[in-house]
Amino acid sequence: MEAPIVEIRNLKQHIGQTVTLRGWVRNARTSKTRFIDLRDGSGFVQCVVGAAEADPESYERAGKLTQECAISLTGRVQAHPKTGAPEILVLTLTLIGDSVDFPITPKEHGTAFLMENRHLWLRSKRQWAILRIRHTIAKAIRDFFDGDGFTLLDAPILTPSACEGTSNLFGTQYFDEGMAFLSQSGQLYQEPGLAAFGKTYCFGPTFRAEKSKTRRHLTEFWMVEPEMAFAHLDDVMVLGERLTKYILARVLEGRQEELDILERDRQPLETALNTTFDRMTYSEAVDKLKTLGSDIVWGEDFGNDDETILMNATDRPLWVHRFPKAFKAFYMEPDPQDARLALGADLLAPEGYGEVIGGGERASSLQYLLDQIAHEGLNRADYEWYLDVRKYGSTPHAGFGLGLERAVAWICKLPHVRETSPYPRMLGTLRP
Ligand code: 4AD
Ligand code: MG
Repeated sequence: MEAPIVEIRNLKQHIGQTVTLRGWVRNARTSKTRFIDLRDGSGFVQCVVGAAEADPESYERAGKLTQECAISLTGRVQAHPKTGAPEILVLTLTLIGDSVDFPITPKEHGTAFLMENRHLWLRSKRQWAILRIRHTIAKAIRDFFDGDGFTLLDAPILTPSACEGTSNLFGTQYFDEGMAFLSQSGQLYQEPGLAAFGKTYCFGPTFRAEKSKTRRHLTEFWMVEPEMAFAHLDDVMVLGERLTKYILARVLEGRQEELDILERDRQPLETALNTTFDRMTYSEAVDKLKTLGSDIVWGEDFGNDDETILMNATDRPLWVHRFPKAFKAFYMEPDPQDARLALGADLLAPEGYGEVIGGGERASSLQYLLDQIAHEGLNRADYEWYLDVRKYGSTPHAGFGLGLERAVAWICKLPHVRETSPYPRMLGTLRP
């Protein structure tokens, strides 16, 4: 009888049976008994090849395996006597794909080298864990909005108009229409959707020609952007907090193995999940920053350092709201209490991670938006379609964007956002 082909993740259900596994050799140790660390994408397992059980040719072959060669093997699944983890006692083994001199060896490599070999680096246990958590977060995001009455409204990537300022646009000639820009945000395309669907979201790649190298900025990143009709600033903070907690719960309950591989302490994530997020106005945050040693002056945007200083002082996520409108996007609703301020809200993550969500209430007055567009030197013709939202059944509305990679970096506690994306794009990185 042929042994059934199984995935490593399901091995626990096959203790005592004979199965076939297919995968890649992470490491092979050759002594009298041969030990193979096998990986198949679904998990990791140790396989033992002993001269007594394995057929002679397979035993011979197991002595010559190289790092990252692809193999198929059949063996008996047994529980490790001490840990109870499944292990394979190999009977036969076939080489499927040879691997000569795999560049990434168990020794330490520099980041530049690993980034050049990103397509191979993906195979490491750490990258596997990070990208599986990324998958879980992306799925949680979709499930959250799909279950909450939001309609998916995909936004275009080639756009005629800037959403988040004109200084970091990627442009390309678009036939005879002039320049097209890679979308910085799908928001402007969500707003017209509200009068059709009430609540919408888009979730896709967005682009910023960020010329500075920081541990938080990519030039291409994924953003989820919900938008709600008849909604105000407070609704943004309520929704963003619910979404963040939904994501945290899904990772904590479903990705224990991956968090363990990353040696991620669960406690700060559990704290964030189980507490009410803090809130403070921008002005309060500036006062607090000054007491913590920042030289920020009222009216300046937070630098990465300021976000880090602020968030090292707390163990809960923090909403900062009501920013000076001078450094916020043109579309934000001004604060009726203080015309210097815009009704924006950013969520800062604890442990020094900084902004993961940015959003707020949108300006509802047509005249105000026209003034803002003129003030920013934007071309009105590119926004006529957007301005129509304020002409036909305009309502208060609000929304936000959550950066997927920022969320992954925080939840996995990574030193740099580059490891959160399978193929990160940032200043100086275009290959592979
Ligand atoms: O704060 P941002 O620029 O807001 C917007 O784009 C709004 N139009 C969103 C909306 O209201 N619909 O970006 C939102 C989030 C940030 O909080 C951050 O998580 C992420 O997108 N982000 C970046 N992530 C990685 N690299 C970059 N260069 C990023 N820029 C923004
Ligand atoms: Mg922002």
